Amino acid sequence: GGESLIHDYDFPFEGWFGSYDTFQLQRGLQIYTEVCASCHGLKYVSFRNLSDETGPALPEDQVRAYAANFFVADFDNNSQLMDSLTGEMRTLTPADRFPVNRTAAAPDLSLMAKARAGFHGPYGTGLSQLFNGMGGPEYIASLLAGYLEPPACAEGAEIDGYYNAVFAAGGYPDSCIDEEGHRMAPGSWIGMAPPLLGDDVTFEDGHEATVESQAQDVAAFLMWTAEPKLVARKQAGLTGVIFLTVLSVLLYLTNKRLWAPYK
Ligand code: HEM
Repeated sequence: GGESLIHDYDFPFEGWFGSYDTFQLQRGLQIYTEVCASCHGLKYVSFRNLSDETGPALPEDQVRAYAANFFVADFDNNSQLMDSLTGEMRTLTPADRFPVNRTAAAPDLSLMAKARAGFHGPYGTGLSQLFNGMGGPEYIASLLAGYLEPPACAEGAEIDGYYNAVFAAGGYPDSCIDEEGHRMAPGSWIGMAPPLLGDDVTFEDGHEATVESQAQDVAAFLMWTAEPKLVARKQAGLTGVIFLTVLSVLLYLTNKRLWAPYK
């Protein structure tokens, strides 16, 4: 299968003390906006969350300006506006969510980083998920960087889409399946043309924009959209561990003291 081709990127939000890198999320937002948003929506994400301190941390005036870039018909937006359907065009505000996008039959990306897994092994046991996490962002980054030359076996085959060594669920030409039924090349053919070609965006701070770096930046941003409370959750977990450690020590000492007269 294609799982071995999923690269175990080191994202800053991994591990016990991991947190989102504000600048990476801002770069990811820019890539999403300038590249992905033409086909994909983010219908579960509210603009106002772009100013979350543990998220992209944009100043509120920038969030207002960003939302105002969207000029859509009321009913074409998301369900929260359904009770005020006017059908009239209006600009969006920080209280709105990102618009849905139905143009290209591309799936909504709000929760994609939690809907896909990067690690299934070894031998499909899923054990590496225990140590490396589900790998949703790794999957997305690897997918975006996973467009390779189609294998020779596919030459002349009539197959829709673009060869991607990481995408598992797409079309596959018969000419690449051997007599025993094994696939000769990893991955399959995906309906999404390679969205990243390198230098697709220009960052204000001059940060590099290779296919690989952009893939990681937008994958990190999509991890944030899927799990905006990750940092708070880790902090609460750590507080809990410290609390329980202190409690254990106190209980141990109490226990010693209570039983001391009988020993
Ligand atoms: C599918 C991400 C740009 C069209 C997907 C999937 C992801 C994704 C994660 C799901 C793959 C899966 O099912 O496992 C992105 C990102 C983009 C981007 C991060 C920007 C960097 C675009 C653009 C278009 C597009 C610009 C249209 C020109 C599609 C379509 C699918 C898809 C049609 C469904 C493909 C299929 O199931 O065969 N994309 N995408 N995407 N995307 Fe994109």
